[in-house]
Amino acid sequence: MNAMNCILNLFLFLQIVSLGSADVVAVPPFNISKASILKYLSLDNITFDLPALYVFGDNFVDAGNNNYLHIPEIQSNYSPYGIDFGGKPTGRYTNGRTVADFIAQFAGLPFPPPVLSLSKQDKRVPQTGLNYASGYSGINWIYGKLWDQIPGLKEQVELFGKTRKKLQRQFGCKQSFSNYMSKSLFFINTITFDLDFAWGGMLYAYSEYYYSQLILKDLSDQLQTLYRLGARKIVVNNAFPLGCQPHLNKGGDCYKGGNERALFFNPMLSNFTKDLRSKLPGLQLVLVDLYKIFEDVFESPASYGFTQAKDPCCSQIEQLIAARCIANVELCKDRNSYVFFDAINPTESMHFLWARRLLKDSTVSYPINLIQLIQS
Ligand SMILES: *[C@@H]1O[C@H](CO)[C@@H](O)[C@H](O)[C@H]1NC(C)=O
Ligand SMILES: *[C@@H]1O[C@H](CO)[C@@H](O)[C@H](O)[C@H]1NC(C)=O
Ligand SMILES: *[C@@H]1O[C@H](CO)[C@@H](O)[C@H](O)[C@H]1NC(C)=O
Repeated sequence: MNAMNCILNLFLFLQIVSLGSADVVAVPPFNISKASILKYLSLDNITFDLPALYVFGDNFVDAGNNNYLHIPEIQSNYSPYGIDFGGKPTGRYTNGRTVADFIAQFAGLPFPPPVLSLSKQDKRVPQTGLNYASGYSGINWIYGKLWDQIPGLKEQVELFGKTRKKLQRQFGCKQSFSNYMSKSLFFINTITFDLDFAWGGMLYAYSEYYYSQLILKDLSDQLQTLYRLGARKIVVNNAFPLGCQPHLNKGGDCYKGGNERALFFNPMLSNFTKDLRSKLPGLQLVLVDLYKIFEDVFESPASYGFTQAKDPCCSQIEQLIAARCIANVELCKDRNSYVFFDAINPTESMHFLWARRLLKDSTVSYPINLIQLIQS
């Protein structure tokens, strides 16, 4: 009888293991050390040393630059934003940490502060990295932004150029500065705006193909500028299935047109990154398949620990273009089980999944994953 039970248990155990495609890892505590978070991910035996993390892009990774632009319609520095960021709204468009914050934690770096939060008088800048990302910005240097004063990718890279001048003075030694620059990580997430808000207007003037080429031309200019400034390790995320944002998937189904744009653009981006790698010697340009990371979740939410992949956690949304949570609105019960926090932006748990997968999963990170990039 006991032996029988034992065999039965073993059988059940094996069944659970063989269902092992499940990939559920709870979001780690907010104040976690580098050693603890690597251990938490069973990566305690790797070296993951990074002098600095520089972040560029849109609302997914904005850490609060939007607070300094005086555009109330796009700010998110009020509750419930930041409820899991020590309960503190910061301007992040989510409940907790972003993918960039998690990468900083993997490397034992402070969360890169918003560049616009530094005072102009302060000649010194932190040497561990800064965040230039701005909500509702994109790549196209004229139309790729919701408001004129929002720094698009071009202005973000210009701001980085100013930071770099100060850093160079701080370093003094030329050799150690270029070494620092080449080892630092440049993380970019910025394509949604061009394919979402700006898309309809642009197609009056251009074909999809030509518009996509324009975006890639502008992206190319900015990546080449970063390269000239000394960046060698650059991570670019492709377009996620933007038709599945809650503000577009109204009937419960994703808006096909939105996803088709991403599927049209992403292969062009992929070819573009290959070309750029061969053009710029020593450039380690990694392309993250953010489309697939989200698509896998939408196909099988439960296997990633999500129960709700369509509706946002914040149950009431302002009917403004930025589709934000209403202040102090009642939230879903279990924030970690939702993919989206508001009608556009992912929850902390989705950000954590994104960070975990690009860290070590070479099926979503080409040609190498983040660990390999950092160690190379
Ligand atoms: C860590 O890696 C080193 C070198 O690969 C190995 O010798 C050591 O046994 C590993 N330690 C653990 C705890 O796995
Ligand atoms: C994190 O640590 C800081 C500094 O020690 C502390 O002020 C803060 O309350 C902690 N936050 C959380 C959520 O534990
Ligand atoms: C990407 O490049 C390959 C090989 O040169 C080519 O066959 C393919 O059509 C390109 N795809 C796009 C979307 O440009």
